[in-house]
Amino acid sequence: MKNKSLVSINDYSKEEQLKILEIAKGFEKNPVQDILKDHVIASLFFEPSTRTRLSFESAVSRLGGKIIGFSEASNTSVKKGESLRDTILTIANYSDLIIMRNPIEGSARFASEISPVPIINAGDGANQHPTQTLLDLYSIIKTQGTLDNLHVAFVGDLKYGRTVHSLVIALCNYNTTFHLVSPLELKLPSSVKMYIKERKLAYHQYTELEDAIPSADVLYMTRIQKERFSDPLEFERIKNSYILSNNMLDNTKENIKVLHPLPRVNEININVDTNPKAYYFEQALNGVFVRQALMASILGLS
Ligand code: CP
Repeated sequence: MKNKSLVSINDYSKEEQLKILEIAKGFEKNPVQDILKDHVIASLFFEPSTRTRLSFESAVSRLGGKIIGFSEASNTSVKKGESLRDTILTIANYSDLIIMRNPIEGSARFASEISPVPIINAGDGANQHPTQTLLDLYSIIKTQGTLDNLHVAFVGDLKYGRTVHSLVIALCNYNTTFHLVSPLELKLPSSVKMYIKERKLAYHQYTELEDAIPSADVLYMTRIQKERFSDPLEFERIKNSYILSNNMLDNTKENIKVLHPLPRVNEININVDTNPKAYYFEQALNGVFVRQALMASILGLS
């Protein structure tokens, strides 16, 4: 994986993804090391973020590295009209690795094609979020003991949810049965469904959350993505389509875990937070170890 950009989850083979998860276990046991002490990591966030940006920053800090960058482009020369190309070529001079979140689908791929240093896609529009997928896989294997043959229910905004797109694609390596719960307007894109079909895996589509919960080993809740809607009234109409509450987990499988990439808005009642079946805050913590493992691998330090 040395010097290899991660733009789409499939840029890394199943074996490479599993290797990252294995290395992450070591960082979970020993997260403070100085392996990045001679490295500068650039973190370019053109879109808001709490977990991805700060878990990367935490990961770099705990490994003794330096992080430079911005959390909004409005106080950079992008505001003066500088292109993404020139921004990347400039920042590549100052850093060993670039982490980028950008609202434009395909922007991370473009950056990886012109950058002399590797690019990690921290989310490009509604397309993909591959580092979230690695931490989701890590969370699933930690809680289920396996990635194989699981029933995974995805709930909410399956159309715009980039974490959903990349995780579905990754789980196609593990004989997953998919349960897809969404309003009719927010169904999983046909390109992602085609990916499941081509691998001859089963998927079931629902509009009611209650219909999918009983068979799920993993319940992957997502937020309806207000920022992707062109019609605010349509968002208002469907924004509270699914709200998971504690009592809905009563008759679920013993091993079920509720994941959510976060941020949460209304889709999980806070009364679920103390339920042993809730795992979303631990999931966010796992992001630090997985991102440490990813950067160490790309920089040839693991
Ligand atoms: N999961 C995730 O991408 O969260 P942030 O938008 O806070 O980074």
